[in-house]
Amino acid sequence: MNLPPFKLERYFAKYEFATEYLLCSSDCEAMSIADLLAMEEGAAEKFQNVWLGYTESQGSPTLRNEICNLYKTTKSDDILVHTGAQEAIFLFMHAMLEENDHIVVHTPSYQSLSEVAKSIGCSISPWRAREENGWALDLDELLGMLRPNTKAIIINTPHNPTGYLMSRADYDTLHQLAKENDLLLFSDEVYRESEYDPATRLPAACDLGDYAVSLGVTSKTYGLAGLRIGWVATKNKKVYDSMASLKDYTTICNSAPSEFLAEVAMRNRQKLVARNLDIIKHNLNIMEDFFNRHTDLFSWVRPRAGSMAFPRYLAGDVESFCDKVVREAGVLLLPGSMYDDTSNHFRLGLGRKNLPQAVERLDAYLSKNIITQVIEQG
Ligand SMILES: Cc1ncc(COP(=O)(O)O)c(C=O)c1O
Repeated sequence: MNLPPFKLERYFAKYEFATEYLLCSSDCEAMSIADLLAMEEGAAEKFQNVWLGYTESQGSPTLRNEICNLYKTTKSDDILVHTGAQEAIFLFMHAMLEENDHIVVHTPSYQSLSEVAKSIGCSISPWRAREENGWALDLDELLGMLRPNTKAIIINTPHNPTGYLMSRADYDTLHQLAKENDLLLFSDEVYRESEYDPATRLPAACDLGDYAVSLGVTSKTYGLAGLRIGWVATKNKKVYDSMASLKDYTTICNSAPSEFLAEVAMRNRQKLVARNLDIIKHNLNIMEDFFNRHTDLFSWVRPRAGSMAFPRYLAGDVESFCDKVVREAGVLLLPGSMYDDTSNHFRLGLGRKNLPQAVERLDAYLSKNIITQVIEQG
């Protein structure tokens, strides 16, 4: 196994705790343990009595019961709880893929969705989101990529970093295709339930058949990344058992306090979603206004779900733009090169409460810079 540095995580490691405004976070606004416990009567007291022994390896039954409410036909025994979604991605790839297997990956992608498979010796076909089509994926392109040794299709909808939400018709066709071709469908759904219009929410992949695996986490839509609680949901016994068996070599079981808190969170998830969608929608209006005022500098596809967008910088090299903005304005943007994007995009985060102040800073920086440029050029 030869894993290269995780570019995005290294970039965040450099700036996340040293920069005033994070305008590119993928998660929604977090909260304190006290605020989370206050959502449920008696929870604070129960938390004091959480037993700090080893926990059940597959996740506590009561937590799995709560997670199950996300799904229609998937049962609590089909849920395998992990330390974050990241562990689940790592274990899925190692459990199900071998050297010389081929997989298709929704691209641009969160790096581990392709990199872990690459490190195992798999070949990867990037299934590219097309900006000109609102970041949609082309199913005919997918058909052309399949090979006799194709093992799995990896998708992520709602998508990091574009905010693209697949249409129901495309989603159904994709499922059909995976089923007919005997492929595993790994569906990264960590931004599910953050659709701006709930009517556009897709069914969870795991509910549609045992070829599918749904990935979930408390970090994104629910804004509780510090819990480090993620899970896979699948009716596929082979996938489930192989992942469970590998988990004994990584984390064995999950943190007991985190499992308790995650259970409270999932029981109250409608409140968390409402709170975070309020923040996102408010921020979207601010960004819409910002981009309308700066059409000479940026273009963007307005997202339909999630806490991110992937705008394009039109006035020069995006990497040096992001570098200047973080150094001179204290506002962190994430250049698309972290996703191997070569078309001058950057990631914008929409889930944080202080986005209005961050945008004010950015605006002030742009006005000053544009004035300076005019003076220099004049
Ligand atoms: C699409 C996607 N999948 C998985 C993850 C991993 O989630 P976690 O950091 O909570 O493990 C992320 C985190 O950014 C993500 O954006």
